[in-house]
Amino acid sequence: MWLIINSLILISACYYDKEDELYPPNSGPKSNVSFSADVIPILTNNCFVCHSTAAALGNVILEGHDQTLIYVNNGSLLGSIKHESNFFPMPNGSAKLSNTLIETIEVWISEGAKNN
Ligand code: HEC
Repeated sequence: MWLIINSLILISACYYDKEDELYPPNSGPKSNVSFSADVIPILTNNCFVCHSTAAALGNVILEGHDQTLIYVNNGSLLGSIKHESNFFPMPNGSAKLSNTLIETIEVWISEGAKNN
């Protein structure tokens, strides 16, 4: 009996964890996304290893607003992180970014991809 109760607790704990991960508090699509505070950290953590001025794989540099805007405007920034066909899936060789991170970049672009 104790085992059953114990595993029930464990199972519900897992569900809770999962929900917590899918809908973490204070996250998800928000407005007024900031390039410097929100977008740069995502690029730094997930993309700079290959797309900084020091390492420009595929000749793609995502360091600085001017450079990043090139890939916003040609659609490949969003296309690649959303794994859309016609684009190379990014980050190359790693798991897709979380929905929260993708949505943050998507909202930033929809708000005009400002250098804010
Ligand atoms: C492990 C290295 C690596 C990482 C990490 C990486 N990329 Fe790339 N990326 C590449 C390579 C290599 C190419 C060129 C693909 C080719 O030409 O085969 C590329 C190409 C691109 C392109 C052009 C795609 C196209 O379809 O024209 C974009 C945009 C891009 N990456 C964005 C990103 C973003 C955003 C991230 C982070 C979320 C990221 N990359 C992470 C290696 C990487």
